[in-house]
Amino acid sequence: MKYSTKTGTLAEFTTGALITGLRTAKLIARTLNQGALLEAATTDFKDLVGQTLTVVLPKNTPVQRIVVAGGADDEQSETQFRKMAAAAVTTLRSLPTRNAIWALTATKVTGRDPYWKATSALFALSTGIYEFNEHKSRDKVANRIELRTLHMFADARSKTSVQRAVRFARALKSGLDLARNLGNQPANVCNPSYLLREARKLGRLQKTSVSALDEKRMRELGMGAFLAVSQASNAPGKMIIVNYKGGKPKDQPVVLIGKGITFDTGGISLKPPPAMDEMKFDMCGAATVLGVTRAAAEARLPINLVTILAAAENMPGSKATRPGDIVRTYSGQTVEILNTDAEGRLVLCDALAYAERYKPRVIIDVATLTGACVVALGGVASAVFSKDDGLADALLAAGDWSGDRAWRLPLWDDYQASLNSNFADMANVAGRDAGAIKAACFLSRFTKNRAWAHMDIAGTAYHSGSKKGATGRPVALLFRFLTEQP
Ligand code: BES
Ligand code: MN
Ligand code: ZN
Repeated sequence: MKYSTKTGTLAEFTTGALITGLRTAKLIARTLNQGALLEAATTDFKDLVGQTLTVVLPKNTPVQRIVVAGGADDEQSETQFRKMAAAAVTTLRSLPTRNAIWALTATKVTGRDPYWKATSALFALSTGIYEFNEHKSRDKVANRIELRTLHMFADARSKTSVQRAVRFARALKSGLDLARNLGNQPANVCNPSYLLREARKLGRLQKTSVSALDEKRMRELGMGAFLAVSQASNAPGKMIIVNYKGGKPKDQPVVLIGKGITFDTGGISLKPPPAMDEMKFDMCGAATVLGVTRAAAEARLPINLVTILAAAENMPGSKATRPGDIVRTYSGQTVEILNTDAEGRLVLCDALAYAERYKPRVIIDVATLTGACVVALGGVASAVFSKDDGLADALLAAGDWSGDRAWRLPLWDDYQASLNSNFADMANVAGRDAGAIKAACFLSRFTKNRAWAHMDIAGTAYHSGSKKGATGRPVALLFRFLTEQP
C-alpha cells in the first residue's frame, strides 16, 4: 500500500474512488456532467458520521466512484472525525479499485490542523486495511483487498504539512505492520531467534545497527533474572539491541525496552488452559518497540534511539525455575521467584539495568505485564507509570493526539513494602490487589535516577474473541512521542 500527496483541481483527477463530503461530491459530479445522477443517488442519504454512500459513475467518467462520507461537511470533534475516517476505510476496503483519492479537506476538526487530519486519516487506513493471511490457503481468504495506492488530497495552503504527514504516515504504517505481524505470528514461528532475525532486517536502514547478547554472554554478565525465565526452553533467549543514530553523536539516546516473551506458559506456575493461545502475544511489547524503531528510522527522525528486546520463552520442564528459587539480577540485587508466571518483570529488570550503559535521557519500557492492568483499564487505554511528571504528561499527550490513548496509574512507594521477601532482597510478586502497580514498583528498583516510564499494554496490545489479533498499540503513541522530542 502506497501513500502519496495530490494537489490541484479535484474534478480533473482520474481515480477509482473519490472520498469526500456530500457538498463537494455534488460539485464534482456537476462538473463531470453527473449532477442529476448524484442528486438522485443521495436523495435518501442521511449524511451522518459513520455512514457512507458509494455512487458509481458511468464507465467513461474519470472518477469511477464517489464515496460520500457522512458528516464531512460539518465541524467535528476528534472522535467523530476518527469514526468518519474508519467508516470510509471500511467502505474503501470492499471496493474493487486499486487507487483512491482521500479528499476530506473541507472537514473542520475542532482544535486540530490539516497535519493532524491527514495523520489521523492515514492512521485509520493503516489500521483498517491490515490483514494477516500468511498461514491461510488462498481460497480461505475472504474479501481480498484491492486497494494499492491512496492519494491524500491537499489544497495549496496545507500542501507542505500534508506532505510531511504523508511521509510520516508511511513510516508509521511500516512500523505498525511489523509490530502486528510479529504479534500475530504463532510461537512455533516467532521465538527469540526469529525476533533477532527480524530485528537484523532493520540493520539495512540508514544509521541503524543490530546486535544481541546470547545466553552465554548473559551468564557472564550475571543476568540471573533473565536466564531464570529462559532456561527451560529449547529456544535460547536473546537480548536484542537495535541502535539508531539519527541525532548528533553526543545527544543522549532515548532507550525503549520491550517485553519479548514469545510464549508465556507461566512456567512451573502453569497458566490454566482457557485462552492460553493468547500468550503468543506476550512479546507485543518487543514488537511495539521494534515497530517504533523501524518507523523512526524510516522517517529519519533526528534522535538517537536504542531499543532493547528482552526475548525469551517461558516454559515448564526439568530445567525450569521453581517457586522459591533465588536468583541474582544484573543489578546485583537478589530476587526470590515466588511465582514463575511473573516472568515479564524478571526479563525486564535485567534489560533495564543493562540500559544504564547507554546513559539514556529517557527510558521507556513496554510490556504485556499484568492481567491486573486488563482489569483496571480494559482495551481502551494503556497504563503509564512514571515518577517523572513531564515524561508521563508527554506520553499521555502523545496518546491523545494519536488516538492511541494511555492513562496514568500511581507509582507511590507505599506499594513497595509488599514486595519484601524473607530470603532475598525482594520477591517477584506480592498480593493480587494493585497487581499492575506492584509490578511497576518492582521494575522501578532497577532504574535508579533516570527519567523512566513503564507502559503496561496487557489490555491494548491485542484483541481477543472474534477480532483476535495484534493491534500494534502503542506504536502510534510512541511514534508521536518521538517526533515531538526536542
Ligand atoms: N503475560 C502475563 C500478563 C497478561 C495476562 C497479559 C493476561 C495479557 C493478558 C504475565 O506474565 C503474567 O502472567 N502476569 C501475572 C502476574 C502475577 C503472577 C503476579 C498475572 O497478571 O496474573
Ligand atoms: Mn506470566
Ligand atoms: Zn507474561
